[in-house]
Amino acid sequence: MRIGVLNSGGDCPGLNAVINGVVGAASRLGWEVLGFIDGYEGLLPEGGDYITLTPDDTIGIAKLGGTILGTTNKGHFAAKVGEGDVAKIPEEIMAKARGNMEKLGVEALVIIGGDGSLTTALQMNQEGFNVVGVPKTIDNDLQATAMTFGFDSAVSTVVDSLDRLQTTAQSHKRVMVLEVMGRHAGWIALWGGIAGGAHVVLLPEVEFSLDKVADFIKQREAEGKRSSLVVVAEGAKLSGGELVIRGEGAASEVSLGGVGDVVAHHLEEMTGKDTRSCTLGHLQRGGSPTALDRILGARFGVKAVDLIREGKFGSMVSYQAYHVDSVPIEDAVHQLRLVNPEGEMVQTARALGICLGD
Ligand code: F6P
Repeated sequence: MRIGVLNSGGDCPGLNAVINGVVGAASRLGWEVLGFIDGYEGLLPEGGDYITLTPDDTIGIAKLGGTILGTTNKGHFAAKVGEGDVAKIPEEIMAKARGNMEKLGVEALVIIGGDGSLTTALQMNQEGFNVVGVPKTIDNDLQATAMTFGFDSAVSTVVDSLDRLQTTAQSHKRVMVLEVMGRHAGWIALWGGIAGGAHVVLLPEVEFSLDKVADFIKQREAEGKRSSLVVVAEGAKLSGGELVIRGEGAASEVSLGGVGDVVAHHLEEMTGKDTRSCTLGHLQRGGSPTALDRILGARFGVKAVDLIREGKFGSMVSYQAYHVDSVPIEDAVHQLRLVNPEGEMVQTARALGICLGD
């Protein structure tokens, strides 16, 4: 059997770990893997644009940031509103992809993507393509999975940045505002802020008042605190309306800044404290994945191959959550949780070619 793998949309630490997982698991089944270049776009040129991936080709890639396959944010597969107002991938694009997959003998596709790319995957599945999905976003904002790979790496970058900002803020008695990613969901800001010791965290989900933030910072100063750290998600909203970032009503001195610059500008005026802002931007997406993201990526890749083997097309790999709850202490003592030798984690290790000595 021959399968394809592609990643689509913004890159994300851990993508290469997923690809490595797919290749490892597929090769153990004796399957061939084609890696399509630049996302869905790789399905379009005559004969397809791809590289053949064997375990030898993917040695050591799990630790690399970005994606060895390249990616495209919005390409020919972007759905267009046609007759009946339903956004659909253009017919001729679907036909080209279908023709190439048939010519190449690719029987199924692993599609690694976020909300938009998975919407494309869904339409492809509805039109008869054998696809399985792997969720991908550093924002960790997909409802159907408790965790996406890339998130832990992004949070680690935020925490490292806050640790650094804290020392300079403390030296200069400043307020430091750090803008982080998260247009719709504030997970990166919240986790990063908690772990990095932020004093204020502003999220898209919780409308904020600049007055309240300024009062909080002034109160800290009154208590003798030298500095304050503020984390702002890029989608944070001011209560009573959007924060005016550009144009009429915007803080005039702030020319090309984002929400972090604007918040910093206003806080400086309102608190009289020297305030600086810093936008973390794509530093959160780049670089090597953390250990957790490498492992989650590997598990997702191996599971995606399982889904194909089981013929579960149209489904997506999902990490199932646990939340913090309570149990009687007596349930905890003398109850070790051991690695299940038949469990999914051990199977993942085997799929990656790791020897367990058995
Ligand atoms: O969806 C992930 C994300 O990191 C967002 O938080 C951010 O707004 C966006 O990607 C930026 O992506 P790009 O610059 O590639 O369009």
